[in-house]
Amino acid sequence: MESLFLKACHKKETDRTPIWLMRQAGRYQKTYRQIRSRVGFLELCKNSDLAAQVTVDAVRQFDFDAGIIFSDILLLGEAMGFDLSFGENHGPRIGNPFRNENDLKKIHPVDPSTSLSFVAEAIKKTKKELGPKIPLIGFAGAPFTLASYLIEGGSSKNFSNTRQLISENPRTWHGFIDKITEGTIDYLSSQIEAGADVIQLFDSWVGNLTLAEYTEFVFPSLQKIVQSLQKKVPLIYFGTQTYPLFPKIKDLGFDVVGVDWRISLNEAWNVLGDVAVQGNLDPQVLLMEPGEVQKQALKILESVNGRSGYIFNLGHGILPQTPEDNVRVLVQTVKNYEK
Ligand code: CP3
Repeated sequence: MESLFLKACHKKETDRTPIWLMRQAGRYQKTYRQIRSRVGFLELCKNSDLAAQVTVDAVRQFDFDAGIIFSDILLLGEAMGFDLSFGENHGPRIGNPFRNENDLKKIHPVDPSTSLSFVAEAIKKTKKELGPKIPLIGFAGAPFTLASYLIEGGSSKNFSNTRQLISENPRTWHGFIDKITEGTIDYLSSQIEAGADVIQLFDSWVGNLTLAEYTEFVFPSLQKIVQSLQKKVPLIYFGTQTYPLFPKIKDLGFDVVGVDWRISLNEAWNVLGDVAVQGNLDPQVLLMEPGEVQKQALKILESVNGRSGYIFNLGHGILPQTPEDNVRVLVQTVKNYEK
């Protein structure tokens, strides 16, 4: 029988609302911190036994309705020849950021069966552990968001190098994003082949672009990805501050669209039309009293009003300082809610 989560992706009716959380396997968990005290982050991602264990731990400890494979969007960048590191207490760093047309020639073609084989292995191991009832989400960064890390050299506030490349050298931008898109399609295909039941594309920072920039410089790459993977498995598109882009996002044909907490689900549906949505609890709420967690979750569930095609999630990743018990309260609240 089809799981609740897959049913909701397909906008089918479900008895209750499915729930999983972004970054559900991570630093807020005691068991994760224990593993990370012995193993570096990238080492953990590349060890398929440990990556599978971390993925499964989160599902079992909190009773989520789906797992997401433990990995990172930047690993594809590494496979393309970018020098990736994660230091303690700082985000990702790229030692050789993308600068100009010359760098296009240095990009390695991606063969996921060699340079990223640990991800497919982790997916197979995780599927075996989770069994048929809990679907597993595979993922990649969306081309703009991945490109922005590779151009900025790490996290960024205003993406000014990326936007400068787009406006001053659109040919180089297109050359770069085309290579990323090609690699992403092969990478995601390998995850589907290994057993991923759903794919989520993380476009966390695309909300920094204007609708005009998005339409000309990003939209075609997403179209290619959707066209290549559509009908194989449901596809989820995640972004933040993307409300102004919804009129274009709507045309992409993703099965599910992520909504952050800056707008209501009904405002999102009004623009997106008849599509499944996922979100939109503010991750900050999980730092509040359990009663407040419950109250805010119920407010969202009531606003959905039994509509099919809704997946409960946060508007962005879970914060590392989140108390584990609040996650339990949230899952129980969503699971006990009668539609
Ligand atoms: O449970 C899951 O959601 C699956 C695992 C997952 C991670 N990263 C693990 C991780 C997923 C889906 C991602 C995606 C990812 N990675 C995104 C898109 C989602 C988002 O949150 O916007 C982005 C932008 C990245 C890049 C990245 N990786 C950054 C900016 C950081 C540093 C974050 C920080 O707060 O320090 C990471 C590291 C990272 N990826 C951690 C985890 C659990 C923390 C690493 C650690 O210290 O253990």
